[in-house]
Amino acid sequence: MNILVTGGTGYIGSHTVVELQQQGHTVVIVDNLSNSHANVVDRIAEITGIRPEFHQFDLTDGEKTAAFFTNHSDLDGIIHFAAFKAVGESMADPLMYYHNNLGSLINILKGMKEHGIRNLVFSSSCTVYGQPDDLPVRETSPVKEAWSPYGNTKQMSEQIIRFSVEAYKLKAIALRYFNPIGSHESALIGELPLGVPNNLVPFITQTAIGLRQTLNVYGSDYNTPDGTAIRDYIHVVDLAKAHVVAVNRMMKEAGKPDYEIFNLGTGNGFSVLEVIQSFEKVSGQSLNYKITDRRPGDVEKVWADTSYANEELGWKAEKSLDEMMLSAWKWEQSLAAKKQ
Ligand code: NAD
Ligand code: WQD
Repeated sequence: MNILVTGGTGYIGSHTVVELQQQGHTVVIVDNLSNSHANVVDRIAEITGIRPEFHQFDLTDGEKTAAFFTNHSDLDGIIHFAAFKAVGESMADPLMYYHNNLGSLINILKGMKEHGIRNLVFSSSCTVYGQPDDLPVRETSPVKEAWSPYGNTKQMSEQIIRFSVEAYKLKAIALRYFNPIGSHESALIGELPLGVPNNLVPFITQTAIGLRQTLNVYGSDYNTPDGTAIRDYIHVVDLAKAHVVAVNRMMKEAGKPDYEIFNLGTGNGFSVLEVIQSFEKVSGQSLNYKITDRRPGDVEKVWADTSYANEELGWKAEKSLDEMMLSAWKWEQSLAAKKQ
């Protein structure tokens, strides 16, 4: 199958391109490199032995996107990762987020409609649930009022897709990721945060390697067993594999609903202190951290009910927290080795 992967040089996109190629799919990447590097294409080729076709342009550019689709009308499906994803940045500049995340999606859907490309997999987020009333959180749990423009773009995107599926006779699967961490076992691709990381795991590995002095643990007074906040961390390779399953399901299995939503997590919640302990165990390093105030806007605890994805997709996350932390650490070390 010919699959367009938007945002394919990014963190989750690059891991998904590898899994798609390894399952025999042909991949075309579109990315404007606003948050990734062109050399990721070389790394993918190094891992799989196949160089994906790569086009660098901005998907909010209607003319360029339309021209791309005219030349690629034989696509069987699209996985749409391309988006901005920094919650804090979206609070400071909401319009930048609405323009990029919704504009690119609308241009993709227009291309699908024009050229009869039926299948879309969309990157959604557990952020659509906010702080759920009941845990673990199910796909049927209410979508709460968005706390950030970023989260709002995911909620709005899901609605835009739902109505477009109905009107234009498309098929789509929205995947709500919990907290993706870790990297490919080759340590050739991984997460590349620009500047100071917002997310916990890159901050841990950058602290351990000496790029940051101290990790701030945001709050120890939550209503959790050790007082620190709980999340459902999932290995990025497990997440990438779910995209291949989703693509195959849309193309090969008849009789499924035209629009589906799945939670992608492990179903296990870990606290910030448990993540730190896992890191210290697998790396043999002790981490410099201190407890500080809560980070505004953080939810206390969230983890997924994955039974629908497990049963319907026949997919289950396999990697443990220790495996996730070890792969994240190997990636950080490989980045440091390249700088020397
Ligand atoms: P990333 O920033 O590493 O990858 C996104 C890629 O999209 C980047 O390579 C960027 O250059 C590209 N891009 C952005 N806007 C573009 C545009 N207008 N045109 C072309 N390319 C563009 O992010 P990621 O962590 O790989 O996230 C991928 C998707 O998953 C995003 O939609 C994100 O919102 C979603 N998501 C991420 C997480 C997470 O914690 N990483 C969690 C839930 C959902
Ligand atoms: C995890 C835990 C922090 C950094 C974000 C987005 C969400 C989704 C996933 C895209 C929290 C704590 C963190 C630090 C800390 N992305 N922490 N010190 O906030 O769950 O979710 O990424 O859709 O939308 O909001 O992830 O990695 O930032 O934080 O103590 O320096 O680690 O308080 O409890 P989060 P995170």
